[in-house]
Amino acid sequence: MNVYDSARMQDVLAPLGYAPTERAEDADMVILNTCHIRENASEKVFSELGRLRPLKQARPGMIFAVAGCVAQAEGPEIVARAPFVDIVMGPQTYHRLPEMVARAARAAGAVIETEFPAESKFDHLPDSAAPAISAFLTIQEGCDKFCSFCVVPYTRGAEASRPMAAVLAEARQLVAGGAREIVLLGQNVNAWHGDAGGLGRLVRELAEIPDLLRIRYTTSHPRDMDDDLIAAHRDVPALVPFLHLPVQSGSDRVLAAMNRGHTADHYRRLVDRLRAARRDLALSTDIIAGHPGETEADHQATLALIRDIGFAQAFSFKYSPRPGTPAAAARQIAEVEKDRRLAEIQGLLRDQQHVFNRACAGKMVKVLFTGPGRHPGQVAGRSPWLQPVHMTGPASLIGTETTVRIAEGHPNSLAAEPLPQTEELACA
Ligand code: 5AD
Ligand code: SF4
Repeated sequence: MNVYDSARMQDVLAPLGYAPTERAEDADMVILNTCHIRENASEKVFSELGRLRPLKQARPGMIFAVAGCVAQAEGPEIVARAPFVDIVMGPQTYHRLPEMVARAARAAGAVIETEFPAESKFDHLPDSAAPAISAFLTIQEGCDKFCSFCVVPYTRGAEASRPMAAVLAEARQLVAGGAREIVLLGQNVNAWHGDAGGLGRLVRELAEIPDLLRIRYTTSHPRDMDDDLIAAHRDVPALVPFLHLPVQSGSDRVLAAMNRGHTADHYRRLVDRLRAARRDLALSTDIIAGHPGETEADHQATLALIRDIGFAQAFSFKYSPRPGTPAAAARQIAEVEKDRRLAEIQGLLRDQQHVFNRACAGKMVKVLFTGPGRHPGQVAGRSPWLQPVHMTGPASLIGTETTVRIAEGHPNSLAAEPLPQTEELACA
């Protein structure tokens, strides 16, 4: 979502004459778009500011902005720790950037905008200049779930859905600009709802857009996976057979302590229903190791759930106490213990990912090519299951969905070779 927000900041700033540059040294303005989800993400902001400070000393006219959830959570604290910062803006305010830039040029102190404005930023953003072949589209923001460990409900605010008409208009504009895949984004994307239904309905509407080849959505909550959305996985071929569905833990005790509102078996049954709807569906998840109160038995229950489901990919994290969240006030698990549990979880998930990738070898798979590969003469793209794929092939493949043969499944990617057949087989 921060990648999407950063791209939209670029769109807002383009009319003022700003264009992106690779090196901070060349910039007239530096915006750090930040994440507050875990402590090391937050701390990175301050170390990055320290690293960039000499640039501002050499060129005092340069504008420094901190955006995103660290800005939202810390507000004036940022300026207290780094007085050379000119703008601090929460994730709901960046449509006001031109005005903030003008004020920063005039003002003696920093411009701080961290309230949740009454107007929606989406109504004030210009069209995206150059959409990617796989383009992000934010349809929902905020979260009302209040998981014990998570800062998102505090930094991103209450759940809010963009209207269906606005989403469809932006999607059509992205496709007209060259996008062939749209990744629908939201902190709780499957909590999206419009007047006429939920995410399943929206997916069906999007699938009507000519030239839109693939639809994905991330990130979802097991509690918001309704019947219609499961049916959309069965009925809509453009909806990819891949789902990121965070489970966080395999222990009912920990899931209750986390305030997740479901059990491990609820998750297992949900996955069964999804796989029944779409035979080749592969799953990804998020797991937290060492939430307060987690025992060795709870940890073993998480490993058991991972083994039962068999994930194609996953993200796992050591529990990180976040200020103001209920779990931060509870008795903490020792760091070494969290490290050990995380290493076990990651070892198992890594093996599962490699097994899944190796199972693709020899199969025919549709790849959406999105750009050049790392080596000259190569093109790169993604399988329907989100695996990065690289292949020797002409640049004319970029922007197409082409059936190729998978030569080899590596731990994190697939190597492919061209094959002009159309027959298709599934990895999962
Ligand atoms: N500590 C560790 N991981 C966290 N996540 C959210 N908050 C924390 C935290 N305090 C993880 C969850 C979530 C993902 C985006 O980040 O697994 O699904
Ligand atoms: Fe955070 Fe997701 Fe829980 Fe919301 S549902 S509180 S975003 S982990």
